Amino acid sequence: MNENSESNLQKLFAESLINDNVFMITTTVDTGFEWQAVDECKEKLNKNVKIIKERGKIYLNVFWNQFAQIQEMRSIDNIFIVADVRKFEFSGISKEADLQLFKDAVRDDMKLKKALNAWKNITGFQGKIYPTTDEYNRAEKDRKLCNTIVTPIKGKKRGQDPSDTEKDEILRYRVTCERIGKHIFESAEVARAIGGELQDKYLWLVDLSTYYLEVVCKVIGNELITQLRVTHESKHHRNIISFGPTTLRATVCYNLLRLAHPNLGDIIIDPMCGSGSIPIEAALVYSQCYIMGGDNHPKAVFRTKSNIEASSSKCKIDLLHWNVSQLPFKDSFVDIVVTDMPFGKRSGRMIDNRILYKEILIELGRIMKPLTGRSVLLTYDRRSFSMALQTARNLFCVTKTLGVNIGGLQAAVYVLKRTDMSYEQFKPKFVKHNV
Ligand SMILES: C[S@@+](CC[C@H](N)C(=O)[O-])C[C@H]1O[C@@H](n2cnc3c(N)ncnc32)[C@H](O)[C@@H]1O
Repeated sequence: MNENSESNLQKLFAESLINDNVFMITTTVDTGFEWQAVDECKEKLNKNVKIIKERGKIYLNVFWNQFAQIQEMRSIDNIFIVADVRKFEFSGISKEADLQLFKDAVRDDMKLKKALNAWKNITGFQGKIYPTTDEYNRAEKDRKLCNTIVTPIKGKKRGQDPSDTEKDEILRYRVTCERIGKHIFESAEVARAIGGELQDKYLWLVDLSTYYLEVVCKVIGNELITQLRVTHESKHHRNIISFGPTTLRATVCYNLLRLAHPNLGDIIIDPMCGSGSIPIEAALVYSQCYIMGGDNHPKAVFRTKSNIEASSSKCKIDLLHWNVSQLPFKDSFVDIVVTDMPFGKRSGRMIDNRILYKEILIELGRIMKPLTGRSVLLTYDRRSFSMALQTARNLFCVTKTLGVNIGGLQAAVYVLKRTDMSYEQFKPKFVKHNV
């Protein structure tokens, strides 16, 4: 394809411009789970919705009245309004000339009004997006006089909540840039160039830490995607207040659970629940299922208990202190097992996984319902997993494998279905530990 021909993103953006009630959004997704996000969008919005899927993100056009559904989606993390998509012909020789292209685009061509209105309505920003020169000068003067440094909220939140604004407050903003590809300029230089031009055009106040609006510029090859952040707090932070060393993001938990396709009345267990992130997400989403979790570490059980108690709806989860190789269930009892196995990094040791993983698969083979039982297992230790699967072969068939990124580690998700093979022949091979 010609480098300068219209990209799919440009086409999607052009489609959003035709209808005043439609705007383009992009959301981040935990890498490897993009299809789960696509499926959730189709399920919750419309099965025909056009979605562009890229590594770690999706793009789509939505109607105004669909935004509430987008915000309720659980597979996605941060949400942005796409304000502009365009391509450039960079010289690749002169940095000044290439940066000037961004400045010219912001000054002369970018029409951000629709996206800014959408951002204001969605975030509940009460202040001024289009201040007069007088208002801007006064605000800058006041800022210098009082030398007010608003302390940024520490922790998970980004900038300041736009809905906390007063009516006469002028928009405080910052521009960040992420770049993929070979360029003669740095990301920070793009952010400065675009940020400076936005300030001249709109008279906003630059504020790198207590901003209300974050403009995120993505330069991918010769394409610039200008986005306005909507989520003040990443959606993966929901549910947990008491974190363990390997607490999973709620978005990852949701995606793992989705892969198991829970049905009404299913029994879902997480036999190595750590701080309880999987059972809590399960109880919140699949409230018509019976959810149970357990761990062999007393601290983990205690952490899960406090997270359950702190959860908004005091989720109904049965919690036990147990050993995964000796679970307190009769044979063929459980419909779904979703668990995050010790990676052998950050949690557990690879050498121990060799035995533990085999014990896990054999025990799951015992408790899961033949033919219908499914399990979704997350691990970093593919080698121990393959060896365990060899031992437990015939008890399971692997229906799907995904490569996913968990906190920077290349992990794998295995979706297994229990076959109708009898468990009996696997029984004597392992000596059970006491719980
Ligand atoms: C990767 S962590 C799970 C983290 C959890 N998903 C969370 O979000 O906090 C693995 C867990 O397996 C537990 N574990 C290790 N060996 C176990 C065993 N034999 N029986 C039960 N739990 C075990 C560890 O205590 C640890 O909490």
